[in-house]
Amino acid sequence: MALRHFLTLNDLSPAELDHVIARAIELKAEHRERRQSVQFPNYVLGMIFEKASTRTRISFEAGIAQFGGHAIFLSPRDTQLGRGEPTEDSARVISSMCDIVMIRTFEHSIIEKFAEYSSVPVINALTDDYHPCQLLADLLTVKEHKGDLAGLTMSYLGDSANNMANSYLLAGVTAGMHVRIAGPEGYLPSADIIAAAEDRAAETGGSVLVTVDAAEALLGADVVATDTWVSMGQEDEKEARLQLFRGYAVDEAAMKLAAPDAVVLHCLPAYRGYEIAAAVIDGPQSIVWDEAENRLHAQKALMAWLMHRSGLAVVEGLD
Ligand code: CP
Repeated sequence: MALRHFLTLNDLSPAELDHVIARAIELKAEHRERRQSVQFPNYVLGMIFEKASTRTRISFEAGIAQFGGHAIFLSPRDTQLGRGEPTEDSARVISSMCDIVMIRTFEHSIIEKFAEYSSVPVINALTDDYHPCQLLADLLTVKEHKGDLAGLTMSYLGDSANNMANSYLLAGVTAGMHVRIAGPEGYLPSADIIAAAEDRAAETGGSVLVTVDAAEALLGADVVATDTWVSMGQEDEKEARLQLFRGYAVDEAAMKLAAPDAVVLHCLPAYRGYEIAAAVIDGPQSIVWDEAENRLHAQKALMAWLMHRSGLAVVEGLD
């Protein structure tokens, strides 16, 4: 059985994405009932964090604990990762002792190299280019609130050259959604990402619109999403970025353009008064707290699916 990784949404087919989300809904219901049908006793999750995290760390660590397994938190400060040990050497060693590994790092090429040399599944817990685990949680949350994902219009506003914009694009079209991305010139997804999303959209019936016009993206949208305008590592550019993205805020005026029953996503942490207004994130259309909790359930489903499909565990009910 071939080893499976989850580095971008392209690592799941549309049917596999649907399956993981359906499984996450089941695991969430079990969690509410304090039941746990999936068990991975003595399995070890290696967690490599080269950037800060609240939600990702807690959700992965809680998730593996709920499966009866154990997590090891690895930061560059406390390991040889921070002293320049080659990624391929680290991958061989860490994967020889862990059953699954998640990584939050900078360049996407680092996680690709780690996966190449790993003997166990590798999960992207955020790189500069993609944050696919966040999108599993986002799609799960939208499904809970809106039902079928296929055919919905999902609009993302703001820094559209970042990992969240790329991930909304790929995940949305994989689920058969109509994805609209709006940001200023020079801060839009690359031609490669747009082409990959268009290929997926042709398969699923979804569509892609990339525009500098926020109103065009928002008109009638079922889902409105945004992200911080200053991602980790961009702190030096803060003042320039706050000016650059000002026309792309998800505020009350923007929400008037979306469908009256539109829901609002933000992966958090949020900066009220910048990319999102307090009245919106704390208002009735916001589903961000469900979205945050759903990191736990979505990633549990993902871990179970990856271990099952890689032949490292047998999980009943999985393809
Ligand atoms: N959304 C997200 O990834 O949150 P953290 O940075 O806190 O993990």
